[in-house]
Amino acid sequence: MGVCMTTASTMGRRRRTLWGLMAVSAIGIAAFAVPPYLSGDPANSNLAINPDATLHFLSLVVHAVPSGLALLIGPLQFLTPLRDRHPRLHRIAGRVYMVSVVCGSLAALFAATFSVSGFPAQVAFYVLTAAWLYSLVQAYRCIRRGEVRLHRIWMIRNYALTFAAVTLRVYLVIGMVLSKQYTWLTFEDVYTASVWASILINVIVAEYVIVQGIVASTARRRRRESA
Ligand code: HEM
Repeated sequence: MGVCMTTASTMGRRRRTLWGLMAVSAIGIAAFAVPPYLSGDPANSNLAINPDATLHFLSLVVHAVPSGLALLIGPLQFLTPLRDRHPRLHRIAGRVYMVSVVCGSLAALFAATFSVSGFPAQVAFYVLTAAWLYSLVQAYRCIRRGEVRLHRIWMIRNYALTFAAVTLRVYLVIGMVLSKQYTWLTFEDVYTASVWASILINVIVAEYVIVQGIVASTARRRRRESA
């Protein structure tokens, strides 16, 4: 019993720390990446703008603003006390999150098409957009059917994809530091590798969290109940 309680409180502390890290990095990236696109001036863009596509900058603005909002709302939706005590707030924030992801992903299709970051990165963005929308639709369908646990699983998958915006920028910084040492690494190499790594690693971490947090804890509870 004592061991069980200690393990449970350690898990609770670890979960809170990870949640805090996730929330702080989401706020940090939203605050750093989105403002250049609020000015409406293409000169402030952090990305090279395609000279042949007049709508390129506009697609980045329409993408960055709602996507940044989704990045900020996500961590709140995973807070169990907030969900339990304020279910209406959870539903409203969930709807805002959904609309933000739909707007952000539709604009991402244009941003990917106009992108000058190279074909492999464009393919990664198309894959990410499809997975982002698919996991959102699944999460929505599950909650409409009242399947709360499945809804949570799909939302973990969906937010892991939203969070690729954070890990992409972390890998970019690491890659840029490495490219100072390994001078054969071009910016395009670092960028393409970072985009793909941010998707793949986040998907793997999400599946790990799902198995450990939901499936394993259900198995533990069943064992306790039958003991
Ligand atoms: C998860 C799905 C997402 C997809 C598919 C996606 C797609 C894209 C694409 C295609 C571009 C243009 C990249 C290029 O031309 O190289 C881009 C840029 C950008 N995205 Fe996203 N994105 C996603 C999530 C997010 C999120 C959650 C944010 C929130 C901060 C965000 C903020 C931005 C910003 C600010 C840019 C402009 C580039 C920069 O200044 O860093 N994106 N995104």
